[in-house]
Amino acid sequence: DDLGVEEIGYLLDTAEAMTTLDGDAVSVLNGTKVAMLFLENSTRTKISFDLAVRKLGGSTVAFSPTGSSISKGESLKDTVTTIEAMGVDCFVMRHSSSGAPVIASRWTDLPIVNAGDGAHEHPTQALLDLLTLRQVIGEERGKRVSGAERFLSGKTISIVGDVRHSRVARSTMKGFAFMGAEVLIVSPGTLSFLRQDQWALGSEAQIEDALAKSDVVYMLRLQSERGDGITLPSLREYQAGFGIGAERLEMIQGRALIMHPGPVNKGVELSEEAASSPSSLIRRQVANGVAVRAAVLAHCLGYGHADMGLRI
Ligand code: NCD
Repeated sequence: DDLGVEEIGYLLDTAEAMTTLDGDAVSVLNGTKVAMLFLENSTRTKISFDLAVRKLGGSTVAFSPTGSSISKGESLKDTVTTIEAMGVDCFVMRHSSSGAPVIASRWTDLPIVNAGDGAHEHPTQALLDLLTLRQVIGEERGKRVSGAERFLSGKTISIVGDVRHSRVARSTMKGFAFMGAEVLIVSPGTLSFLRQDQWALGSEAQIEDALAKSDVVYMLRLQSERGDGITLPSLREYQAGFGIGAERLEMIQGRALIMHPGPVNKGVELSEEAASSPSSLIRRQVANGVAVRAAVLAHCLGYGHADMGLRI
């Protein structure tokens, strides 16, 4: 929400330049300590932030609620101020409550990077998805896309599944629309946005209708930890209505690309074949996570392209 097209373009340019670096060639964060406040489970986001800090020559301080004073009832405020007092330079925070990073930013002057808060937002996921699509579009054109271009103009992207509980959807839909795409939402009634009218998004009731129009199909994970189990008749019904299996894969192959933030519930949102088909960008999304998070950290800590010796 804070960034304009120029700034997003700048971050993507930084990230892209970083993907081409050998090893840990940029060491602007030498001596910088990043506290990793992961108060909810994570594999790819946590590891990619960790690798991103190392890529920039900094070090991370790991923190998880089990085994910490949070299990003795320490509040988030005390946790943040205590860790700050010990001398870290930045926080990366994942929390199960929407808005936790913004609230925490009132208690500290250090940058806090949101690594996913409840059902609210997951900004670095949206950025890595944008980078992935920007690279693919560059390959289609035979010319790298860079800078402040709205490179998704003329593209239609369907976001499919449990949008109601999805922080990924709330960030990617903005990012995609901001960069020019038409965004369609396809979700079961019980898992749709309560107030979709507050955003300028289209919708389709049938996945087939959306697939027929889409250049990209962005599948969301069913969020069973946020109560989805009780809002669906069965996983099989969900799969039949909103998943991509053999038939739908055939329908889109060679025409539309498949994305998913991971972790995939195989056989629910995507079959194994769909997830690993040539249409799937999932591996590229994961790979781009490190460079994008490094770009965001460098930016939040005040380093630009020139400081990092990056050629854009
Ligand atoms: C997402 C998350 O945790 O928000 N995963 C991720 O960060 N790659 C998506 C999800 O868990 O559904």
